Amino acid sequence: MSGLRTENLSVQFGAVKPVDGVSVEIAAGKLTSIIGPNGAGKTSFFNLLTGLYLPTRGKVYFDGNDVTDMPVHQKVRCGLTRTFQILNVFDALTVEENIRVAVQRRHGRSRKLFCAADVHGPVEDEVAEITERIRLPDKRKVRACDLSHGHRRHLEIGLSLATRPKTLLLDEPMSGLGMYESSIMGEFVRELAQSLTVVLVEHHMSVVLSISDTILVLSQGRLLASGTPAEIQANPAVQEAYLGSGRYDLPQERAAHA
Ligand SMILES: Nc1ncnc2c1ncn2[C@@H]1O[C@H](COP(=O)(O)OP(=O)(O)OP(=O)(O)O)[C@@H](O)[C@H]1O
Ligand SMILES: [Mg+2]
Repeated sequence: MSGLRTENLSVQFGAVKPVDGVSVEIAAGKLTSIIGPNGAGKTSFFNLLTGLYLPTRGKVYFDGNDVTDMPVHQKVRCGLTRTFQILNVFDALTVEENIRVAVQRRHGRSRKLFCAADVHGPVEDEVAEITERIRLPDKRKVRACDLSHGHRRHLEIGLSLATRPKTLLLDEPMSGLGMYESSIMGEFVRELAQSLTVVLVEHHMSVVLSISDTILVLSQGRLLASGTPAEIQANPAVQEAYLGSGRYDLPQERAAHA
């Protein structure tokens, strides 16, 4: 399990500053959520952490090492992996075939569908272990295109787990899911955080408030607040940023009484 730290992290495209001077500490072994209105810079922040964007200014430290300029694939090899806001699975392949491809890729054998006997066993063991871990063992022979949206999201996380991450960044894994599927996903993410450092970007506020250890709030590329769920919920600046955006989904208990 590894932590992340940023120092004055910034990226600028012309006049646009998606991330502007963000300094945060993301504790190892915890579940840290990043929230903020649409366009706040959450995905851009992930892009900076993972190497998809090069910062205009500032630093990223992973496990205490400066990884600011490290390319994406090297960060993945060091244990820093992400999922994308848009689903990223092979539709025509089954659940276990999808995971097998990802595991084989790590073993450097992605082109060999029939790999050597010496790695076949370990690969198959890992495919079974990940399928279990993402809670899809009974769906392992089902093609990705025939899965529910929620199960496809689980599978996508399975593909990330195949890289053996120490820190996993999840960009809106509950996007497009209903209340029930979101709460299942929430439980699943919480479970992942028992063995990994998890950083979650999510708009489903009730789930975020119930599962996170720490919440960071971004607004217009800047860090607006950080704290425990209770602290964030009580923070007037956060309320204002959300209410202003018109996208604040009130926690269920309060919504029921609203
Ligand atoms: N490569 C880029 N070039 C120009 N502008 C960009 C680029 N990447 C991000 N932006 C801008 O930066 C701002 C923040 O975008 P970002 O996607 O990071 O927000 P977000 O918080 O993830 O939003 P959402 O909740 O809608 O996913 C937006 O105004 C976006 O248009
Ligand atoms: Mg985004």
